[in-house]
Amino acid sequence: MLIVANWKAYVNDVDVAKTLTTHAKKISASSDAKIIIAPPSPLLALLSKGNRSKVFFSAQDVSLEDVGAHTGEATATLIKNVGAQYVIVGHSERRANGETVEDVSGKLKSSLIAGLTPILCVGESVRDKEGAYLAMLRGQIVSALKDLSNKERAQVVVAYEPVWAIGKSATSAITPTDLAEMVLYIRKVIAEMVPGTKSARMKILYGGSVEPENASELANGVDGFLIGHASITPELFAGICKAVA
Ligand code: PGA
Repeated sequence: MLIVANWKAYVNDVDVAKTLTTHAKKISASSDAKIIIAPPSPLLALLSKGNRSKVFFSAQDVSLEDVGAHTGEATATLIKNVGAQYVIVGHSERRANGETVEDVSGKLKSSLIAGLTPILCVGESVRDKEGAYLAMLRGQIVSALKDLSNKERAQVVVAYEPVWAIGKSATSAITPTDLAEMVLYIRKVIAEMVPGTKSARMKILYGGSVEPENASELANGVDGFLIGHASITPELFAGICKAVA
């Protein structure tokens, strides 16, 4: 299982960040889960420096540009050079801030060129009875992957995060049955985009109000979780890692 701790902008203090990282390292030492910490970008180099643990690091976003006069941007090359192996691309909170499907596709490309593994976030905002949300989800995946080569597409990790389930509590998360249906659907879409047997090996994560109570039932059929609010409370994070171990 891949467990991505998406700290979002919850952590504003260096000591808190260090404590959470030490805690995650301890969990990873005795767990089969692969823990990936995604801190706010100013903390990335600080936390990943000298890392010899089983924990990996991710950025929460990446620039479309590779180098140059782009004030405020963190390039994929820099993110890679400061010790991250992953990057979250297309999170709904970035899309809500104006990130377009073209941006998402370009960010996947620049991440892959720099040698980072992108975690592509997709998910519907609302569900309708007619099932239009399925077409919308399909559109998000196709538009994100279409400009990549087949080899590049196969390296993308897909995180299904229905926006209506994000930032709530376990009772508001998706049900295991609905999640199983969505994973099947996503597998079908990626199989169309990635010919051959490679698509079956692509990882699909779920995100949206994963907590210790629902982690084990949701873990069936997904390759891991993207965890927001519960990733910055040590007991909740440890509880989730234990539930899926
Ligand atoms: P949540 O966030 O766990 O707080 O719902 C998940 C995410 O947005 O990645």
